[in-house]
Amino acid sequence: MSANLQSLESYWMPFTANRAFKKNPRLFASAEGMYYKTTEGKQVLDGCAGLWCVNAGHGQKKINDAIKFQVDQMTYAPAFQGGHLGAFEFAERLADLFPGYLNHAFFTNSGSEAADTSLKLARAYYKARGNPEKVRLVGRDKGYHGVNYGGLSVGGIPAARKVYGPFLPEVHHLPHTHNMEKNAFSKGQPEHGVELADRLLDIIEMHGADTIAAVIVEPMAGSAGVVVPPKGYLERLRKITKDNDILLIFDEVITAFGRTGDISTASLLGIQPDMINTAKGLTNGAVPMGAVMASDEIHDTIMQGPPDVIELFHGYTYSGHPLACAAGIATLDVYKEQGLFERAAELTPYLEKAVHSLARHDVVQDVRNFGMVAAVDLKPREGAPTARSFETYLKAFEQGVLVRTTGDIIAMSPPLIVDEKQIDTIINTLDDILSSLE
Ligand SMILES: Cc1ncc(COP(=O)(O)O)c(C=O)c1O
Repeated sequence: MSANLQSLESYWMPFTANRAFKKNPRLFASAEGMYYKTTEGKQVLDGCAGLWCVNAGHGQKKINDAIKFQVDQMTYAPAFQGGHLGAFEFAERLADLFPGYLNHAFFTNSGSEAADTSLKLARAYYKARGNPEKVRLVGRDKGYHGVNYGGLSVGGIPAARKVYGPFLPEVHHLPHTHNMEKNAFSKGQPEHGVELADRLLDIIEMHGADTIAAVIVEPMAGSAGVVVPPKGYLERLRKITKDNDILLIFDEVITAFGRTGDISTASLLGIQPDMINTAKGLTNGAVPMGAVMASDEIHDTIMQGPPDVIELFHGYTYSGHPLACAAGIATLDVYKEQGLFERAAELTPYLEKAVHSLARHDVVQDVRNFGMVAAVDLKPREGAPTARSFETYLKAFEQGVLVRTTGDIIAMSPPLIVDEKQIDTIINTLDDILSSLE
């Protein structure tokens, strides 16, 4: 502990069992490559890229140097009616990287802000286009779009919905696509569930496409426990939204920047959503940032009115923050120079084979994988849901491997620099723990 720290009480930790953690803290002191080091000097293999964000691994020199250089140049420039070259350069680099029609980046500071920004853009687009009645937003059960009220309203994580309502009106939810009976132990995209996209047709029939602005989904739902899209489902959603003049937003906060083997899962699958939300891997987690990539059609429609009047009444003090842009530009260089998206695509079959070997354990009720993401779904312990997975998480940490739990699911999403031996270490550690688990 640092010499000046008296206790852990003052820091109210996010999404953490604070009291339990403070009795048995797990504190990271440094990180390099695939490994963290704790304040007690223990080395921990990072099986989840921090929190799905350190896609290029820890301590990438080019990113660190870019941030240090920018610190000495300028740490802040006004974001409203002002700017700095880094924000323009980063936006242009992103526009080059994402599909041809997604040419406009709106910078936020997090994935949550990206979610709310994209929902506001959808409504602003239809207002500007002369369809002010198109306001309804459609999310999905089990969806996670961060913690702000827009994202919470379209999201479908029960624990959040129970506590924070009421939410935005005029919001509807599609059913989730998780189907254990039909799809358990699928490798990659499961076979069953394409027809669940048609539930959007029911919402359209009930409320009219002329009242609906947008549908927002994560191509792969990460936070709800790695729910992989059934084959054809996202394509069908795109067709229905397009046919009915409804915008489609892909929340790719987890799934962009190589996580599924391409710049985005939209690109991987050849689907063209109207907006893609990003964060996390955008800066390799080095400086907080999110970005909504918006289509020319949305951008150009909103860019109306007198040229000296603000067209989009939205933004954050730290939109396009100089340190985040410096980190982001360097991150894109690192992804390219080290071929990390290609590496992710190459390693995907290895991770798939390795994680599915855990299916042999009685306590395992499903194994799922998509790109460089894998999940082991444990049967809940009677009367103590989530206890089994949290015990697994703690034991893995003791043995020097960091994984993530959500519900009774153990999720893995290692930095894309991971090698086969390190994948084996993660899986063998879990294998041992699952053998000893009741
Ligand atoms: C799909 C998705 N959207 C939004 C968010 C929220 O991002 P943040 O925690 O940066 O606000 C997350 C975070 O995990 C996410 O997975």
